[in-house]
Amino acid sequence: MSETQSTYNYKVVRQFAVMTVIWGIVGMLVGVIIAAQMVWPELNMGWLHFGRLRPLHTNAVIFAFGGCALFATSYYVVQRTCHTRIFSDGLAAFTFWGWQLVIVLAAITLPLGITQGKEYAELEWPIDILITVVWVAYAIVFFGTIAKRKVTHIYVANWFYGGYILAVALLHVVNSAAIPVSLTKSYSAYAGVQDAMVQWWYGHNAVGFFLTAGFLGMMYYFVPKQAGRPVYSYRLSVVHFWALIFTYMWAGPHHLHYTALPDWTQSVGMLFSLILLAPSWGGMINGVMTLSGAWHKLRDDPILKFLITSLSFYGMSTFEGPMMAIKTVNALSHYTDWTIGHVHSGALGWVAMISIGSIYYLLPRLFAKPEMFSVKLITVHFWVATIGVVLYIASMWIAGVMQGLMWRAVNADGTLTYSFVESVKASYPFWAIRFLGGCLFLSGMLIMAYNMVKTIAGGRAVDDALVLQPAANHA
Ligand code: HEM
Ligand code: HEM
Repeated sequence: MSETQSTYNYKVVRQFAVMTVIWGIVGMLVGVIIAAQMVWPELNMGWLHFGRLRPLHTNAVIFAFGGCALFATSYYVVQRTCHTRIFSDGLAAFTFWGWQLVIVLAAITLPLGITQGKEYAELEWPIDILITVVWVAYAIVFFGTIAKRKVTHIYVANWFYGGYILAVALLHVVNSAAIPVSLTKSYSAYAGVQDAMVQWWYGHNAVGFFLTAGFLGMMYYFVPKQAGRPVYSYRLSVVHFWALIFTYMWAGPHHLHYTALPDWTQSVGMLFSLILLAPSWGGMINGVMTLSGAWHKLRDDPILKFLITSLSFYGMSTFEGPMMAIKTVNALSHYTDWTIGHVHSGALGWVAMISIGSIYYLLPRLFAKPEMFSVKLITVHFWVATIGVVLYIASMWIAGVMQGLMWRAVNADGTLTYSFVESVKASYPFWAIRFLGGCLFLSGMLIMAYNMVKTIAGGRAVDDALVLQPAANHA
């Protein structure tokens, strides 16, 4: 076996892992700024106002922070579980630099107001083409690695990563179809209600595949590794995979209740959203129960705390989502901060926390250290982050239900009890609490960055790690 064949490529994993922390800080800082703008409207200065910064926040946290975490972990997991080096070092490096270029272009164009106006798909067509090229390279690297694997079995984490890579390619290409009129302006290939349907088919599956399936790949690798236990039920994980990917595809219309979309489509979306509870909870239970017999490890392992708490938030948001998809519940929750609470129980509680746990697992291995510079600081990070999420989502739930009730309240003579401005005024204290929660979560990320820098300073960057023989290798 040659030198390159018998080693793993850790360089690309390391690059993406470090950028996860950096983009996490950037994206969450913008989140904190827009949260502050809701409390102090005078902070909406010049073109850096809420309308321009909000898409910058969503793109930065989802695609830069979440994206880098997914690249880093998928490249690590696919190599380790296939007992082979990544398919192509060159293409993998291209995905790293290409993805960073996408992020920088997003950070320039979105504040300038260059946008397609489709949520989570705002980037204009030249950037969309770059994304497609990078994504095809990603698919070649990932599936190429699977193809050259040294073991017959394809571990379930790879099924989730593979599903996410294929689905995101499909979603991106279909939803971004547009007719360009200049380098910075294009019109969607779809019109009216079809455009809305395609957009929310994309939007919901961006949640299902970008923000969920890929992170479930993380769960199936890092939870068993950190717990030192095999996954609770391998059979359940396979059922989980097929049920989840089948069901997610049909639930998009729950974003378009009471719109011009045909009524039956909305009902189909609602039904599939309710069904989605089952595979979501099956997966969550499978992850949590992996700890059975090893619960005591939760007491003093902060990485495990991050991983298992993320699963609790995953369970919470996938219970809440189906409830909000019921049309009568959605009549109350839609347009309110309840949606924002739901989003962040998924985004902060689930996506960010499982990423943070996984990156803490990876960093020492990527810098030839037995553990992070300070395990105590990971514990501090865990508590600061958890309190931050709880403040964020609890304040948004209360604000959301209050707003919904105020908007629908009518007097005996049929006039509205409250004006809209009164509901805005009543929301202020809750927006202030959300701002505080956001500051806490962001400070946790700064603690992580400090811990990371110290770990890097005391370690050595590992470019290639030896592939051990399968018998001696526990992936
Ligand atoms: C069983 C799983 C889930 C279901 C059925 C579900 C359902 C819903 C529903 C009904 C809405 C409100 C739509 C509206 O009124 O506009 C919503 C919004 C949203 N959910 Fe979920 N949800 C689920 C899980 C998740 C998870 C795990 C995340 C995050 C990781 C998430 C992220 C979002 C986002 C970002 C939005 C806001 C979309 C927008 O309007 O911009 N959801 N979801
Ligand atoms: C410090 C942490 C964070 C803070 C303070 C924060 C704050 C905010 C604020 C103020 C909004 C706008 C809400 C509105 O329009 O009323 C927002 C929207 C959003 N954020 Fe965050 N955020 C944070 C982290 C994250 C993370 C880590 C993710 C994803 C992984 C995320 C995903 C989103 C999404 C998808 C929306 C749009 C929701 C919708 O349209 O319904 N956020 N965030």
